[in-house]
Amino acid sequence: MTNLLTQLEQTNIPKHVAFIMDGNGRWAKSQGQHRLFGHAEGVLSVKEIIKTAREIGIQYLTMYAFSTENWNRPAEEVAGLMDLLVQAITNETDEMHENGVRLMTIGDISALPESCVVSLNEATHKTRENTNLTLVLALNYSARSEITSACKRLAEEVKSGLISLDQITEDSISEKLNTSGIPDPELLIRTSGECRISNFLLWQLSYTELYFTPVHWPDFRKKEFVNAIIAYQQRERRFGKISEQLNDNK
Ligand code: FPP
Repeated sequence: MTNLLTQLEQTNIPKHVAFIMDGNGRWAKSQGQHRLFGHAEGVLSVKEIIKTAREIGIQYLTMYAFSTENWNRPAEEVAGLMDLLVQAITNETDEMHENGVRLMTIGDISALPESCVVSLNEATHKTRENTNLTLVLALNYSARSEITSACKRLAEEVKSGLISLDQITEDSISEKLNTSGIPDPELLIRTSGECRISNFLLWQLSYTELYFTPVHWPDFRKKEFVNAIIAYQQRERRFGKISEQLNDNK
């Protein structure tokens, strides 16, 4: 296992990796278990990915834990997911804090049950000064609403004369997003075989490398994560240039 990390090119470690954690339900079904069992096992993957990210030196992880569309699931599953979230935050915050992990959220958490809001606020407040790794949980998150809110806030500023139209720039839009101050992800990993973005970080993923794997989230552990980073390191990120121009810059 230690050997696996030595395969990574140390000068090309992504700063920020985002995850669409898919396949908990299918994994549970394949084991003859209830969907919530799959989500609980998925929390163990989250823990292992955080630990591995610290070992590798990744600075930001963003995880899509609950989308605005997920409210449409059966009430029992939504309630179970919320309970799991509170449990995970309650059980893990001290260890995250000791390891220098800062917890943040994106999305409208005010619509989550009170117990979730309280535990998330406590955990984010407690860990706010930590600098080893930032864990961003996307909860009740929708990229389209995020961009719409940013547009409305900028429009208000123009309307009130605080800024001019010319001051609406790509940077000023980025600053109005929930992810303000966080670098865009270099790598997005989606598990469980679906090849879509599902309203996640639409602005921030403009130049991100996309990695899709058939592995279900509960089976996505250290080895799969390191393999995804190795695949990322083998890609050439051209940002619209041609290969020769990239080599010239080296
Ligand atoms: C997708 O699997 C998974 C989710 C909608 C929830 C992800 C949540 C967790 C892993 C737990 C969250 C906890 C923390 C601490 C972040 P699915 O149910 O869509 O699977 P399926 O497509 O196979 O049905």
